[in-house]
Parts: sequence; structure tokens; C-alpha cells
Amino acid sequence: MAIIDLNIARAEELLLAGKVVAIPTETVYGLAASAYNINAVLEIFNIKKRPSFDPLIVHTYDLNSASAFIEDIPTPALLLAQAFWPGPLTLLLPKKKIILDLVTAGSPYVAVRVPNHAITLDLLKRLPFPLAAPSANPFGYISPTTPRHVFAQLGNKIDYILDGGTCSVGIESTIVSFEKKIPTVLRLGGIDIAALEAVVGPVEIALQHAPNRPCVPGALLSHYAPIKKLLMGSLSRLIPRYSAIIDRVGVLSFKKQYEAIPQKNQVILSPQGCLKEAAQNLFNGLRLLDDLPIDIILADYLPNHGIGAAINDRLQRAQHK
Ligand code: TXA
Ligand code: MG
Repeated sequence: MAIIDLNIARAEELLLAGKVVAIPTETVYGLAASAYNINAVLEIFNIKKRPSFDPLIVHTYDLNSASAFIEDIPTPALLLAQAFWPGPLTLLLPKKKIILDLVTAGSPYVAVRVPNHAITLDLLKRLPFPLAAPSANPFGYISPTTPRHVFAQLGNKIDYILDGGTCSVGIESTIVSFEKKIPTVLRLGGIDIAALEAVVGPVEIALQHAPNRPCVPGALLSHYAPIKKLLMGSLSRLIPRYSAIIDRVGVLSFKKQYEAIPQKNQVILSPQGCLKEAAQNLFNGLRLLDDLPIDIILADYLPNHGIGAAINDRLQRAQHK
């Protein structure tokens, strides 16, 4: 069974020995191993039951350290890295040979991110290699934002969960590609579109995976999904439809409480209506509802701007099961 603890030296020791360790980041917890060690990376795929065509993000501690494994960095990528690293932004950059094909699923581009979490930055600085890390959840399920979430699903498959508390952003990083002239957003996430555009000008958004590029399962129609059925829409219209089974209905609400629904079956993401707070509470709220004795989760549409767009995107994918 995994130990949850704060010992960075222990995490370092295990990673140096080629083991897989869960690490905190500001977005979600990652399931990390040396990006240069094929057996360690294979073990990540095994633990997550992740298909091998789904590439992994490589985490390092600053732009300079990334030059060990990227060929070069296009100007818009450099501007974004300077503006948002460390932070919830992943850049697709041309990889050097040292990055395993398994990590990129055969793509010449590696996904690179500098996480904004003091403990993990410290760990990364101690290690002689960057860390490949997907979110620390079984493939397709809700991402973990606390050590307990990791333990609940993967506690019997790993030795160590490095405790960095609750993730401050709560949803995954924004992913940007530079293959085309205009930077292209492949996944909405912690850095919103307006913030990107303030730095590099107009960006394109292409969330569906295209035929000729590695599949981006974060962009698959069904992802981030609870086990329970989830339906998204206007709650005041959806709730009356379920009046016959009202005790078996759970609600994920942005800011309002609903009289018709038992209080214990309601998660309110942000009573003040703050999107940032809603993102922090999203995955924990979905997990709480998934564990209740209910048959269906009804989820609100959030205001579709800023990080609200990234939240809506995840709820829509959770709905497609
Ligand atoms: O916030 C995050 O990004 C978290 C934390 C742990 O850093 N990580 C994360 O990893 O969300 P994961 O594996 O759950 O999602 C990474 C996404 C996947 O959809 C994957 O397909 C895409 O990034 N990706 C990774 N490498 C890629 C590559 N070389 N080309 C295209 N897409 C890539
Ligand atoms: Mg994931």
C-alpha cells in the first residue's frame, strides 16, 4: 500500500531506482517516473491502464533545463514559457533523441511543462532526469486533486504519494502546439485563451484529435468521467424532470442551492460564483457525487469564459460515456 508523506528525499530515492511515484502539481497529481527510463515509463502506462498511443507530458524545473531534451523553441512558445512557467501550461516542442518514442507516442514533439508547485520543483531540481507524468488516475476517470484521491484508486499499485496538499488550480494544464503558423490550443486548461492571446496574439482552438497527429485523449469525447451517469444543462430545467426519483439525484451546481434536492446530494462549486474556486473544487465535487448512493449527476453549465470554458469542456466530456 502506498505511503502518503512529505519526504522529498524518499521520492527522489524511489525515482532514481526507476520506480513510479505520485507527485503534486498545481493542476492535478501526476504519476511520475524518469522520462529517460523505458521500463519506468512502461510501468506508468501499466498502472494507469493507459493505451500506449496516448503520449505523456514531461515535467522539468525551468526553461533552461528543458534544453537537455528539446531541440529548439519557436518564438511564440518562448514568449508563453516566459509568461506562464512555472504554471499550468504545456508546450509541444521538437524533442531530442533522449526522449523515448514511448513518451511521445512516436511524435517528434514532446509535451513540456514546468509545474508551479514548490515541492515538485525542488524534487525536479534534485533529479538528473525530467519526469514523465500523466494525471494520477485510472485512464478515463476523474483526475486527482488530493493525495487521498490518488490513494483511493492507485494506492495498491504504487509505493509512494508525495503529499503537496490540495491542488491550487484543480484542472489540468492548457496544451499548445506550434506546428502551424498560429499557436493551436489542443486542450483547454489552467491558462485561459485570453491570457494566451495577450502574449502571442490570436490562437486557434482545435480540441478534437486530428487524423495525422497523436491522439489527445484529454480531447477524446469521453474523458474525466465519473462512473455514474452525468447530464449537463440548466439545472432549474433538468431537476423537475427527475422529481420521481429525487432522492437518487445528485447535483453539481455552480453557485446556487436547489430546494428540491436533498442537501447531502448537492455540491456547490463556488457559492460566491468565482470560476477559479469552482475549478479548484470541480474534481473533488465529482468524486463526492460519484461515491453517493444516487443514480444520476445533474451538472450546471458554467459561464463559458476564462477557466469556466475549461470546466465546461470537462463536464461535457464527463457526460459522454
Ligand atoms: O496539468 C497537467 O497537464 C497534468 C499534470 C500532472 O501535469 N498532466 C496531465 O497529463 O493532465 P495527462 O496525461 O492526463 O494529459 C496529457 C495530455 C494527453 O491528452 C496527451 O494525449 C497530451 O497531453 N499529450 C502529451 N504529449 C503529447 C504530444 N507529444 N503530442 C500531443 N499531445 C500530447
Ligand atoms: Mg489525464
